[in-house]
Amino acid sequence: MSAASNDQVVIFDTTLRDGEQSPGASMTLEEKLQVAELLDTMGVDIIEAGFPIASNGDFEAVSEIARRSKNAVIAGLARAISADIDRAGEAVRNAERGRIHTFVSTSPIHLQHQMNKTEDEVLEIIQRTVAQARNLIDDVEWSAMDATRTPIEYLSRCVEAAIAAGATTINLPDTVGYAVPQEYREMFEQIRANVPNSDKAVFSVHCHNDLGLAVANSLAGVAGGARQIECTINGLGERAGNAALEEIVMAVRTRNDILPYASKVDPVYLTRASKLVSAVSSFPVQYNKAIVGKNAFAHESGIHQDGMLKNAETYEIMRPEDVGVRATSLVMGKHSGRHAFKDKLVELGYDLGDNAFQEAFRRFKELADRKKNVYDEDIEALVEDEITIQGETVKVIALTVIAGTGGPQKAILTMDIDGRHETREATGDGPVDATFNAIKAIWPHEATLQLYQVNAVTEGTDAQAEVSVRLEDSGKIATGKGADTDTLVASARAYVSALNKLAIRSQRIVNVDDAIAS
Ligand code: KIV
Ligand code: ZN
Repeated sequence: MSAASNDQVVIFDTTLRDGEQSPGASMTLEEKLQVAELLDTMGVDIIEAGFPIASNGDFEAVSEIARRSKNAVIAGLARAISADIDRAGEAVRNAERGRIHTFVSTSPIHLQHQMNKTEDEVLEIIQRTVAQARNLIDDVEWSAMDATRTPIEYLSRCVEAAIAAGATTINLPDTVGYAVPQEYREMFEQIRANVPNSDKAVFSVHCHNDLGLAVANSLAGVAGGARQIECTINGLGERAGNAALEEIVMAVRTRNDILPYASKVDPVYLTRASKLVSAVSSFPVQYNKAIVGKNAFAHESGIHQDGMLKNAETYEIMRPEDVGVRATSLVMGKHSGRHAFKDKLVELGYDLGDNAFQEAFRRFKELADRKKNVYDEDIEALVEDEITIQGETVKVIALTVIAGTGGPQKAILTMDIDGRHETREATGDGPVDATFNAIKAIWPHEATLQLYQVNAVTEGTDAQAEVSVRLEDSGKIATGKGADTDTLVASARAYVSALNKLAIRSQRIVNVDDAIAS
């Protein structure tokens, strides 16, 4: 990517890489494709689609996103290791515009304890690996992992070496979320002033939120001269997460008087993106989350409501419709046909493939038969559940549960495993336990249940239940979600979804944290 014009900030979304790396947030290929498509549509400049060396699944996801993407640059992450760089280059080869993003740690603490390398050895690694990447592709980003805990003199030498070797973007991450805004801004100012070839690259911010400062730090870095912001939808990411894309985009738009920058992201997609990422990662969005939380535009207190009725600007700095919040509407009833359902999906921002559409429509009819009023939220929960199911190799087909005071409760379950149907019965200490035991009988596993949570999608006793399940197996964590008017069916789906994700996670042979260079 050529250097950004002076007031244009490039939005680099890493939901599918740094976000997906957070424990429990694994996504299937189908889910990643959905997220990437939406990011591309909403105007994100660069999509970091994954870490291709990590597993065949990660490689496949990056290659497929690269092949499909229409507008965005597609980046693949690589450690400072020759095999990683070749694999990332191969994964983004079919993109209209691809990028290799390679990184190495530069801080004394990482050099000494993680890598066991000297400063000069790391400088040599930077020159060699950036040059290798640049031989494969014109667009190369280099990141100094733990930049904010690296002495500025050594960081300057690393940046100069990376640019000289061909890096076109230089990212200086606050990997451990330690910086405060003023020092992060000064780091960019000093590096840009001290490094002789700094005008040959775009500088990038990448902030983690351990102290709740990720967005503030990112904006401070931009004030210091950075013109690329790395962020994730809902701030998804390891530990406390990354800077939230929606907060960055809306801060820049709302306070353009003192943040005089422009981004290409269309904010009307922000709510939709937040819901999709929450659904596929199974990470709920906190109610009071800025921009996309359920309460972000709710005015409860009398004095606020009074002001709002007189003039919305008394208490509202952004309009809900600007970020894609729609008034809740009653959708359709059981007489609504395929056409009306398709129109509704378009209005809600979904574009389902044929199989997923047929299945979603069948479930909508079933839901309309069972539930008096079907709302947008019902359709969203159902469709997102269906998107998840479409990407899974093991699925719930049928469930009958015998519950009540008599005990022991019994579940009879049929599952589809790669096209083969298997049925088993199991008893348990309650209907949920019986259901999970039946799953275990069909799909034996060692995973333990860490969280089981039920939420109602809308109000009323006929509401759909949205169930979240978190499983842990040998330190690997995966979360699954399921939705249905029957809480036990939703529970079974959520559990099986988490198992599918655990299977993806255990195929991963390399973690970004193993940042040891060759
Ligand atoms: O936080 C970090 O340092 C990273 C790098 C891989 C860019 O995610
Ligand atoms: Zn990171």
